[in-house]
Amino acid sequence: DDCCTTEDRKEVQTLWSEIWSAQFTGRRVQVAQAVFEDLFRRDPESKNLFKRVNVDDMNSPEFHAHCIRVVNGLDTVIGLLDDPDTLKSQLEHLAQQHKERDGIHKTHFDEMSHAFGAVMPQVSSCFNPDAWNRCFGSIATKIASLL
Ligand code: HEM
Repeated sequence: DDCCTTEDRKEVQTLWSEIWSAQFTGRRVQVAQAVFEDLFRRDPESKNLFKRVNVDDMNSPEFHAHCIRVVNGLDTVIGLLDDPDTLKSQLEHLAQQHKERDGIHKTHFDEMSHAFGAVMPQVSSCFNPDAWNRCFGSIATKIASLL
């Protein structure tokens, strides 16, 4: 039940670590905010899912903390791409966390994939869209399949 090829994984892990090695802190928040802005442009309704974390003020501490949780969640998953058994368990856990919330649908994970695909090339100089899409795509598809 491999996630994506070894080459893809290496590319994605390298890309991922390069992004965060950049000087300024707050990068996680900025990247996640850009992803959410893209998601809300694609699907304005989806914004309602994030009321509890004060999405109406995307610069609030509540939404910043949400951004950090999501990016850290993805960080965990990308770090586990080489360990399929633990990865599987982590994806099941993430799926459960999303399943518990009303209104989250499989299609949201496609939209989120597109949103990340649009943002990552802007924050990385050596973005490989094919490797990214294969790895992120299989992560998102796996979570969505368990919803
Ligand atoms: C919460 C990660 C995709 C909607 C969270 C949390 C994490 C996370 C770690 C916090 C869980 C907690 O502390 O209980 C991710 C990752 C994603 C992803 C890694 C993609 C691979 C999505 C998508 C949607 C979504 C596609 C729907 C558009 C939510 C909502 C919450 C949440 C509504 C709860 C916000 C609140 O606290 O009220 N996500 N997520 N997530 N996620 Fe995701």
